[in-house]
Amino acid sequence: APKSVSSIQIKGQNFICDDYTNVTPKMISYLGRNLHLQKNNPLSIVRQRIVNYFYSSFTKRGHPAFSVYDNLSPIVTTKQNFDDLLIPTDHPSRAKSDCYYINRGTLLRAHMTAHQSELLRSGLDNFLMIGDVYRRDEIDSTHFPVFHQVDAVRSQRKEELFIGKPDLEIFEPSYDQENAHAYVNSIDDPMKQSCHTLEAAKLMEGQLKSHLIGLTKVLFGDDIKCRWVDAYFPFTHPSWELEIYYENNWLEVLGCGIVRNEILVNAGPSRNTIAYAFGLGLERLAMALYKIPDIRLMWSTDSGFVTQFENVDLNEDITYKPVSSYPQCTNDMSFWLPSHLTIDTFMSNDFYDLVRDVGGDIIEQVKLKDKFVHPKSKKHSLCYSIVYRHLERTLTQAEVNQVHKEIEKAVVDAYNVVIR
Ligand code: PHE
Repeated sequence: APKSVSSIQIKGQNFICDDYTNVTPKMISYLGRNLHLQKNNPLSIVRQRIVNYFYSSFTKRGHPAFSVYDNLSPIVTTKQNFDDLLIPTDHPSRAKSDCYYINRGTLLRAHMTAHQSELLRSGLDNFLMIGDVYRRDEIDSTHFPVFHQVDAVRSQRKEELFIGKPDLEIFEPSYDQENAHAYVNSIDDPMKQSCHTLEAAKLMEGQLKSHLIGLTKVLFGDDIKCRWVDAYFPFTHPSWELEIYYENNWLEVLGCGIVRNEILVNAGPSRNTIAYAFGLGLERLAMALYKIPDIRLMWSTDSGFVTQFENVDLNEDITYKPVSSYPQCTNDMSFWLPSHLTIDTFMSNDFYDLVRDVGGDIIEQVKLKDKFVHPKSKKHSLCYSIVYRHLERTLTQAEVNQVHKEIEKAVVDAYNVVIR
């Protein structure tokens, strides 16, 4: 008999499942919420402030020189999310343990950069891509499997970049634009890609950095402390991250760099441009700007939260006042792993997803508390603390115990563990 194939429906579209499918109904339920477009949501306020900064920074004959895409479907191909961005096939960011795959070829986008190539291919030079992105990660007050990013590309032709200096070039003489596909573009030099002149790379770096520092100051005020950290992304070179000093910590708020020339070449016939790109996280910025203590609050429909961001002036100084903080309730869960699993091969992100699927939004944090190998039986044991807190009311110990039991049962069924 033919093997039955299972499939899932997402937004009326049918997808065939395979051995990569790990997206859960819970995750699918977040699609279309579009918090970044929701009036009065802090993410939407930060989005508007960023877009306005862009509009005012770059105008062409009085018109904004940027197009904004904030409603692109979060369902993308592995080609869009990885291949088009030169992300190697064995790169860790492709792992099943880090992404929500619909099947081998399709996933919920893990970054907004997934749309960069197709928009370049459609002929755009300067654009913003804003939307929800999906990543499997740990569970605490700053991580949620769905978050929001603003990504941008700014391209310039030689005449725009070197105004009044017609003898300067974007490309080295050894780079033949007519034969761009054949050129091997090296990134061995930490300052620039081999195809670019040092003048072009340095000028772009300066513009990129001052543009982003400018944005940070518009958002946080002139006194904000920032620093640049060298970084690596497969799709930019050189690459940097910007960190801001916030509550005694350096907080990473964005990644950026000079777009790899191969991406521009693949996107269209010799464009003769150089581009910079960046991607920044809206939750990080909104939490720091408005002192929002828990990322789950972004999803709150409780009037105590929503009304604090209602009809505010975009640039108003808002400090979130906790409606009242309901108590936490922490229960531990210890289990023996089956003999085929060890402390190191147990997939913690699978476990976190399961806890969230069963426990829902009352899960505040999951912490690994203890690991242990029995000296005689050599069996491996793990202990996790699960912190429960409802954002809008006090949980009773009895209802927490009930949910905790359901999670234990699901964990036993899924991994064949033995609860201690
Ligand atoms: N996509 C990167 C991320 O999600 C950010 C980034 C965008 C970096 C564009 C460089 C250029 O971390």
